[in-house]
Amino acid sequence: MSNMENRRIILNARPVGVPGAEFFSIDTAPVDDLSAGQFLIKNMYLSVDPAMRGWANDAPNYSPPVPVGDVMRAFAVGEIVASENLDYAVGELVAGVFGWQRFAISDGSNIMRRIACDDLSPTLALGVLGLNGITAYFGLLDVCNPQSGETVIVSTSAGAVGSCVGQIAKIQGCKAVGITGGPEKIALCLNEFGYDAAIDYKNASDINAEISAACPDGVNCYFDNTCGPISDAVFEHLALGARITVCGTASLQEWETIPQGPRIHRQLMVNRARMTGFLVLDYNARYMEAVDQLAIWVRSGQISSREHILDGMDHAPGAIEMLYRGENTGKLLIKVD
Ligand SMILES: NC(=O)c1ccc[n+]([C@@H]2O[C@H](COP(=O)([O-])OP(=O)(O)OC[C@H]3O[C@@H](n4cnc5c(N)ncnc54)[C@H](OP(=O)(O)O)[C@@H]3O)[C@@H](O)[C@H]2O)c1
Repeated sequence: MSNMENRRIILNARPVGVPGAEFFSIDTAPVDDLSAGQFLIKNMYLSVDPAMRGWANDAPNYSPPVPVGDVMRAFAVGEIVASENLDYAVGELVAGVFGWQRFAISDGSNIMRRIACDDLSPTLALGVLGLNGITAYFGLLDVCNPQSGETVIVSTSAGAVGSCVGQIAKIQGCKAVGITGGPEKIALCLNEFGYDAAIDYKNASDINAEISAACPDGVNCYFDNTCGPISDAVFEHLALGARITVCGTASLQEWETIPQGPRIHRQLMVNRARMTGFLVLDYNARYMEAVDQLAIWVRSGQISSREHILDGMDHAPGAIEMLYRGENTGKLLIKVD
């Protein structure tokens, strides 16, 4: 054992639905010694992602749940502070699945990418130049294939993924329409992320009428991050040949029992529309293609992003709940104290 002490956020019970702070505890433990091929990462920033709800729950999912008693699985960026691996040098910055903890030991298998020490903040590797941006890039361009002049509508449009989708849609020459909750996020969509129109689903008296007004020629592409009532409304406005990326299900209260909604087969059939489930992990081999292009757009000012940084690991236990209450403005991160 080294004499370094780790601070860790432990999943201490199995939640159903969104895990609140009571499902986590904070402990300290010694940092293990490194074996050959391993290196030690000191985390600088921890990510908070909607997907973490699924990793804590036991509902059917694309990856197994975090075992109760383990460090909560999470993306993070950190610096390599000790290394027994010739491919990873002390001082390098890396992004990967390092967990909600101060120190993580890696053998390279959980590294998402190395971060160049350049003009861009390393925190971007958890947001617009990380999984969020990559999700927006492939989920929109590969799945929806938007064409210039088409209308793209996006739910959670002010969030980390959604804000990037809207801006990529604009770069493609599309009309971008956002759907988000509350006046502050509507202002962000219009003034910072360049949406042509934005609909406040929390305060709209008639969301159908608002979608109709914003999308008079119908919706060609729908980037769906919520499902639920927002999607039910969007499906009423599909244009001929519409493409839908099913990226997230933020509105579902729980995943064990999925509520029954409208049957949309007729809307899909009449409009010859295509609805595709999307998982960014399937694009693992192509991540850097997206990151390189997104970095060009960030540097040129064509894509802007927001970060909402919580100061200190004490904020971690309540952070997933905060995300699902929509209290984040931008990519939600925790600065490791
Ligand atoms: N499939 C994939 O590979 C993949 C990868 C990454 C992310 N995602 C999905 O992308 C979506 C956005 O993720 P993000 O990291 O960018 O998070 P985010 O948008 O920054 O934050 C989550 C947002 O979800 C919205 N929300 C929460 N509860 C809601 C509800 N009941 N109804 C409608 N909206 C609700 C809130 O925004 P409002 O204020 O607008 O309601 C909240 O700010 C999530 O659904 C996530 O699961 C999917």
